[in-house]
Amino acid sequence: MKGSTTAELSQFADDVLRGLSSTPKELSSKYFYDDEGSRLFQEIMKLPEYYLTGCENEIFSTQTNEIHRAFANGDNAFDLIELGAGDGTKTAVLVDHFLKRNADISYSPIDISQEALDALTEKFEREFPALRMNAMNGDYFKILESLRSGDGRRKVLLFLGSNIGNFSADQSVAFFRSLREVMSDNDLLLVGFDLQKDPHVIANAYDDAAGVTAKFNLNLLTRINRELGGNFDLDKFTHYANYRPFEGSARSFLVSREKQTVRIDALGRDFEFDPWEAVFMEISQKYSLKMIADLAEKSGFTVKQNFFDGKNYYCDSLWSV
Ligand code: AVI
Repeated sequence: MKGSTTAELSQFADDVLRGLSSTPKELSSKYFYDDEGSRLFQEIMKLPEYYLTGCENEIFSTQTNEIHRAFANGDNAFDLIELGAGDGTKTAVLVDHFLKRNADISYSPIDISQEALDALTEKFEREFPALRMNAMNGDYFKILESLRSGDGRRKVLLFLGSNIGNFSADQSVAFFRSLREVMSDNDLLLVGFDLQKDPHVIANAYDDAAGVTAKFNLNLLTRINRELGGNFDLDKFTHYANYRPFEGSARSFLVSREKQTVRIDALGRDFEFDPWEAVFMEISQKYSLKMIADLAEKSGFTVKQNFFDGKNYYCDSLWSV
């Protein structure tokens, strides 16, 4: 990841100050993805418990024809824009198929991690030398405006991997509405949603036996230590995750194992933690089909087609404006 800019660092400091001064305490999962966090997330995606990635891969490799038909727009020309592209592994399956079908496409991956984007660009340039690419590094909320184009070509926005699950209900609607604003009538949006299912399966996905998800959460404390001069002792916190079936939400927490005081120099402050006090770290929302349809409608979209894996664990939902 490129070094944070002063503005990014001061936003991070503000958010940490606000989060650790609140009751209950919270830290935003959007800060998980420094280079080490992005690397740990790649590891999570390979875990046996973390079914989400495998399900989306299955959809893309078994339903590529249907997806292509839905994107092709008669003239087989469209521009793919992927928000939060990561290493682009899933999308490579689609791109490969589209190119073999002689589609006239371009691919613009957007990601917060420069390291992930570099790896993606190298891989795509090697595998698809003819593909037109325009990788963009940054927060996709801030890059949205540059996506507005009046060239008449269809844009297909991809927001995959259940990334939407990490937003609150209000943030999801606001986010989709802001996408809607930069989209033209003929454009499409494909969103990956993790579906509600056996609660045990979901709970295990966020509490893997190898402890990678725990490391992923704890890494945010390491990031605060490094970037904001904190003195968190990681051994004094434990990761806890649960799934609440009424709300369909998995949540993760870091829990203080003892009474302790943590100093964060950049904030000029000490923070007190009670024994077993929990810090809310992340929500991973799971959806019903009704929730997906409601969310589309509230945000100004119509569900055009849903694609499922064989177990109905996951849904890639294609929306038109
Ligand atoms: C990136 N996001 C969709 C992941 C999820 O499933 O909520 C992040 C993650 N957190 C723990 N494991 C994976």
